[in-house]
Amino acid sequence: MWSPLRSGRHVVTANKGPIALHYAALADLARAQRVTLGVEGTVMGGTPALRLGSELLQGAGISACAGILNGTTNYILTRMEAGATYPAALAEAQALGYAEADPAGDVEGHDAACKLVIVANILMGRTLRLQDVAVQGITQLTPADVTAAASAGERWKLVATVDAHAAQVRPQRLALTHPLAAVSGITNAITFSTAVLGDVTLVGPGAGGVATGFALLADILALHRTQTAA
Ligand code: HSE
Repeated sequence: MWSPLRSGRHVVTANKGPIALHYAALADLARAQRVTLGVEGTVMGGTPALRLGSELLQGAGISACAGILNGTTNYILTRMEAGATYPAALAEAQALGYAEADPAGDVEGHDAACKLVIVANILMGRTLRLQDVAVQGITQLTPADVTAAASAGERWKLVATVDAHAAQVRPQRLALTHPLAAVSGITNAITFSTAVLGDVTLVGPGAGGVATGFALLADILALHRTQTAA
């Protein structure tokens, strides 16, 4: 990614690692080279969370975000609620192309933490580092935990939250009336808490080849618009 930017090429990427670790420096380099760095595909697949936050909610004053940012874990939790075992549900998520090559990044919460850092730094003007996020995945959740939540009218979700004081990824038991509780399977969601509009929630596909490919297309079309407008 550094090399094409240094040589004056536009970059569109769904690779969240470099963006979580080095967004500020990469964006500075892109600005200096007068090229575009498109990163929509790094968060929530084809669901335009970054564009919504950075363009359409510009000026709304985003003070906090809370979301389901990992499709694999949400898929696993949804399937476990329906009676599937954890290994079977993970194998399904891998077969469907949702999980990372090493699914530990999904189930231990690090994929969601990367996305949370990207959201905080791009949309909230933060300088958050991965080590600033308290991370707990879903590997400790048992079928009994899932059943107990269901009996109480609740549902486990891996929720990523960031505000002015803290950033964390951890499983939470949500009441079924909570807006994030109804987000099932591979679907992701994010709630932007804003000063002007209150809460704005976006829900949509968060993983898989088509969703990620669409995010890349959206960035390429945005780049095309800037080129043709120039
Ligand atoms: N493994 C990721 C997920 C893919 O399950 O959400 C999209 O970043």
